[in-house]
Amino acid sequence: AALDASKLSSTLAKTLKPLQPIETLRFGQTFSDHMIVATYDPELGWSAPEVKPYGPITLDPQCSCFQYGGNVFEGMKAYLGPDGKARLFRPDMNMRRMEKSCARLALPPIDGDVVLELIKHLVNVEKRWIPKESGYSLYIRPTVIATRPGLGVTASDHAMLYILASPTGPYFARPVSLLAVSENVRAWPGGTGGHKVAGNYSPGFLPQRAAAEKGYDQILWLFGDDRRVTEAGAMNFFVVVKRDDEDGVDLITAPLDGTILPGVTRASCLALAGDPEFHQEISMRLHPQEMVYTMSDLAKWSSEGKLLEALAIGTAVIVGPCNRIGFEGKDIVIPGDGMGPVGTAIRKKILDIQEGRTEWKGWGVV
Ligand code: COI
Repeated sequence: AALDASKLSSTLAKTLKPLQPIETLRFGQTFSDHMIVATYDPELGWSAPEVKPYGPITLDPQCSCFQYGGNVFEGMKAYLGPDGKARLFRPDMNMRRMEKSCARLALPPIDGDVVLELIKHLVNVEKRWIPKESGYSLYIRPTVIATRPGLGVTASDHAMLYILASPTGPYFARPVSLLAVSENVRAWPGGTGGHKVAGNYSPGFLPQRAAAEKGYDQILWLFGDDRRVTEAGAMNFFVVVKRDDEDGVDLITAPLDGTILPGVTRASCLALAGDPEFHQEISMRLHPQEMVYTMSDLAKWSSEGKLLEALAIGTAVIVGPCNRIGFEGKDIVIPGDGMGPVGTAIRKKILDIQEGRTEWKGWGVV
């Protein structure tokens, strides 16, 4: 059978957890009362999805996800608007990406539109968990894992979908410093870097730890002999650079060549930066540039005084400042601790849309 949201059944938790004071919320540490689960079997197809109390799942230890890393996920947030309605931000983009991630790992195909219906249902069930305060939200983590039993090195014809909800606040409390690394690489042409697969993340932990030992918060991932700038930690990375023609500024990020995660916030920043309506709103002229640029370019722009802002961009952080970039024993210091008028204006606009204070091109979905 196809995954079918109309077959959803519910077993609600007998007792509900107390809500946590928002100042104690840390990213991904608190989970709501319920989750949604569905399983795929090659004979039966997708099971009827179930809302059930949040808790452990039982899996055979030979499952493909444990042995061969069949695991894709999404990250999205639900916000409570001033009208009391819950909103998701461009969730269709997450769903299309999830379909592609499943395809890349040869997992059973999943219909993102149905997953989105299930997500909306979970958000409504867990509405009391959406914090009301600005900058806080209910982080939604849809996950598909390969559950094929057996050690055969082959595509999984079994899968499990589960959707978790976790109340969360600001991702970084302060600007982050980045250490540029080229001895480890996050992604390469033809690899999985352009998909949201779990296997992209754990290889970053060792260089991340090494960066922390040197006093940096996150890694700036480089690629190739020419040291192309790609991503920052688990986030997309943008710089704001002064233009030679003095006609506003460039908002520069690496192109989607298969090594870059096609972030929803990334796409939204680029769209805003190219939108005359937004330029008018903020009285600034921005030029979105998806282009290859290198550490030498960054160093040159910095020495010429053209490097104005450096921004980590993602669902979790939204838009966050990067204050310095370590490379070959030296630091490139970003003025104003990394964030200036451009990052501030884009962050505010995105948050206004997410939190339902403004309507914008259907991006906020009730
Ligand atoms: C994000 O920016 O939301 C990420 O993907 C980072 C991490 C939470 C996986």
